Amino acid sequence: MFEIPIRMERVLHRLKELAHCSAGKRGVTRLSFTSEFRQAGLLVRRWMKEAGMVVRVDALGNIIGHYPHHRRGGPAFLIGSHLDSVMEGGAFDGTLGVVAALEVVQALFESGVQTALPLEVVVFCDEEGARFHTTLLGSRAMAGTLLGEDLNARDARGITLADALREFGLDPLAFRSAKRDPEQIAGYMELHIEQGPILENEHLPCGVVSGIAGAVRGRFQVEGLAGHAGTVPMDARRDALVGAAEIILAVEEAARKSPSTVATVGNLQVFPGSSNVIPGRVEGTLDVRSLDDEERRRVFRQICQRAEGIAENGSLSFCCEVVLDTPAVQCSPRLMAAAAEAITHHGYPPLFIPSGAGHDALAMADLTEVGMIFVRCRGGVSHHPEEYVEPEDIEIGVSVFLEAVLRAMDSHPKASSTGQTEEAEVP
Ligand code: GLV
Ligand code: MN
Ligand code: MN
Repeated sequence: MFEIPIRMERVLHRLKELAHCSAGKRGVTRLSFTSEFRQAGLLVRRWMKEAGMVVRVDALGNIIGHYPHHRRGGPAFLIGSHLDSVMEGGAFDGTLGVVAALEVVQALFESGVQTALPLEVVVFCDEEGARFHTTLLGSRAMAGTLLGEDLNARDARGITLADALREFGLDPLAFRSAKRDPEQIAGYMELHIEQGPILENEHLPCGVVSGIAGAVRGRFQVEGLAGHAGTVPMDARRDALVGAAEIILAVEEAARKSPSTVATVGNLQVFPGSSNVIPGRVEGTLDVRSLDDEERRRVFRQICQRAEGIAENGSLSFCCEVVLDTPAVQCSPRLMAAAAEAITHHGYPPLFIPSGAGHDALAMADLTEVGMIFVRCRGGVSHHPEEYVEPEDIEIGVSVFLEAVLRAMDSHPKASSTGQTEEAEVP
């Protein structure tokens, strides 16, 4: 396999430019369909064009770059990641995969390499679910698993996904048109920061993802009775926040007792939310994950039963609406082999790591085979402003990713072999 140079100064510059597309002062906050998100999307579209790609935006706002005149035809191989962030997140979650995918196509374009299959870059609109709580919106739309009811999901200000799409200049009713034909897709690969400590502990710059944990996300509500904070005696109260606090401890206990499950209450809203009023209602989010789907569902059921018991004891009511339930996914053996061979070729042992975090690959697995490469991050820290990846690791990661993508395309049954041409594959 011939050497194809990547340009690190371009990669680092682009990461910095995307990090500037952020609201707020701490870390990166780039929620889907906001003005900072639009700004980041404009940069990505410009860079795709620089790489000789034709750009289109689908009904969900996913940005897709492709070479329409690829001579060899066949199904397209997709690479990419997401452009949205959590609140006060870091500069690498999602964007490293976006910039890596752009660098792969641009390096191939500049080196005049003709790939074995058409190569597309896909930049997803909402992997985190930080704005609407329901997650993987862009990749689920592309895989055809987004539901009409998802358009009714509301953000913290009560704006629905449908309204946000409309305001962004998209047509929410056309969401089904984002679905791709599985016959036309040859696989999806994504580079992502590990978001955990395994690679750092093993002194390795990158690793092969073996599978992605399944997740259930719920929105729960505890209802009590609001009242005067100065007059209602303690034993006459129906304080929804006290009930919610007990429920959070039960969530923690249930997950700690399970060998493979993690569970988090990441958001809580207290109503009416005044220092001199007993909380009458609490709304919160629940996120339960495991690589073992049966165990994850068991823990979720157990949490809900415990919560109902706690609510009953406090003369409160509890209900929980499931907004997302995605089963765990195993990565494709063929794409894992491509990644492992590329890592070995770069002089490192291929370490196989399961992903506790969710990724667009989870949703894309309903459409096509998926593979992922993780890059080491400092201290395993992610979803935090101090998220950091050493430039040396980025360079190794992107080079490995480029080679893995070529190997993955070469090993596809419908591939012609990769070669070098005089002219680049552009219109
Ligand atoms: C996204 O990072 C998630 O795992 O929820
Ligand atoms: Mn991510
Ligand atoms: Mn994330």
